[in-house]
Amino acid sequence: MSNFEPEIVAFCCHYCAYTAADMAGTRRVTYPSNVKIIRVPCTGKVDAIHLMKALEKGADGVYVAGCLDGDCHFKSGNLRATAHVNQIKKELATLGWEPERVEMMYFSAGMGEKFAKAAEEFTEKIRALGPSPASQATRKAV
Ligand code: FES
Repeated sequence: MSNFEPEIVAFCCHYCAYTAADMAGTRRVTYPSNVKIIRVPCTGKVDAIHLMKALEKGADGVYVAGCLDGDCHFKSGNLRATAHVNQIKKELATLGWEPERVEMMYFSAGMGEKFAKAAEEFTEKIRALGPSPASQATRKAV
């Protein structure tokens, strides 16, 4: 699919990753509009079911972006989120999906440029993978 534009969902913690995304905007550092941000209080609140639902509803890639190691405002939410992402990666592999459609990322509030670069790289990676099986089914139905 040559003109494929991936749909990407990014669950971003309010304290660090969301602020980094905001900083990117403030500094006019652009990142692809493919990335739709969902702000959450802490990535520890993002359960495996949220990641699976996003994929089931047609996202081609999903990532969870939290605070740097040791900086989670709720102590270990980012570690909990990492465990959920790793769990979903294994489940995707058993379903025959590419596990790299789901990733965990870490940012500090001041990493606006790094956030934008990561969003760009993730979008490129998912673009290269092509539509997810669920998204393909949705696109065919339309
Ligand atoms: Fe940012 Fe927990 S508050 S990951």
